[in-house]
Amino acid sequence: MTHKTLRTDTDWHELWQDMMSKCYAIAYDKNGRLKQWSVSQAKDYLQYSNPEYYQALIALTAVTAEESVLDIGCGPGVLSLPFSKVAKTVTAVDSAPGMLEVLCENMKPQNLRNITCVNKAWRTVQVGVDIKREYDVVISSNSISLLGVREQTINGKTSQDWNLVEALSKMTQVGKRVYVTFRLGGDNDSELFRLLGKDYQPHPNHIILYNVLHQMGIRPNFEVLSFAKRRSDDSAGLLKWLDWIEKFNSEEKEAIMKHHAENERNLLDTPDLWGIFWWKNTNR
Ligand SMILES: C[S@@+](CC[C@H](N)C(=O)[O-])C[C@H]1O[C@@H](n2cnc3c(N)ncnc32)[C@H](O)[C@@H]1O
Repeated sequence: MTHKTLRTDTDWHELWQDMMSKCYAIAYDKNGRLKQWSVSQAKDYLQYSNPEYYQALIALTAVTAEESVLDIGCGPGVLSLPFSKVAKTVTAVDSAPGMLEVLCENMKPQNLRNITCVNKAWRTVQVGVDIKREYDVVISSNSISLLGVREQTINGKTSQDWNLVEALSKMTQVGKRVYVTFRLGGDNDSELFRLLGKDYQPHPNHIILYNVLHQMGIRPNFEVLSFAKRRSDDSAGLLKWLDWIEKFNSEEKEAIMKHHAENERNLLDTPDLWGIFWWKNTNR
């Protein structure tokens, strides 16, 4: 019996960078800049969030009343709001002003005074200036793929530089415990792209993320969370998203909506699965 030799020379970060630069699900404006979430999108997003999700993460991180939390790509406060009720302080970082506006709106009525907001993209955040040098818990919840981006405008032309290693290194630099969450489960889009006759360029998945971490010398723990209720899969939300990413013409959108309607029952019956990589910073 012959064995194939396994390739060990894959540069997983290069693969990740290549996939992010081609990924169909990233929304750009007409000037080639990344689109930022609006206030109404942020409100919709918060409304669909599942309380079981933040409860599970509070339990998993075992955050205490003495501890500080850094929530990167915090969105409208899906985690920052509930974590601020159990932690000493929360620093909430997000590149979208609309997301932070909704987070602030929700802080006031709940009288939450221990959240500090930082409206910056993660790679432009300066440690020791915009944020503290150390946090007990650092979280990227459903945001890791975008945290590696840095935009640059040269001669009026904007482009993105994707660097996950830099984003992860900075998280590890400031965190005693680091948590990265991502959605797991069936990839419904690949079949759709086949039906549309289009080339499918997905987000890099958690296997690639794991290998990037491994090549950085980080050996993360892995947890899976399963919820019965999905966050947002209704057709109105899908249509808004398709309009936002502007990657499909009207016939394609119609075909996608039809495909979604035919599969909605399946989607709603499928558990909402989340993966979490987490590690301790051994240098602290
Ligand atoms: C899908 S939302 C996740 C929100 C929330 N963390 C959650 O678990 O539901 C992703 C968030 O990451 C933010 N984001 C994207 N790129 C970012 C970057 N480079 N730096 C900081 N935030 C970023 C987006 O504005 C958005 O609010």
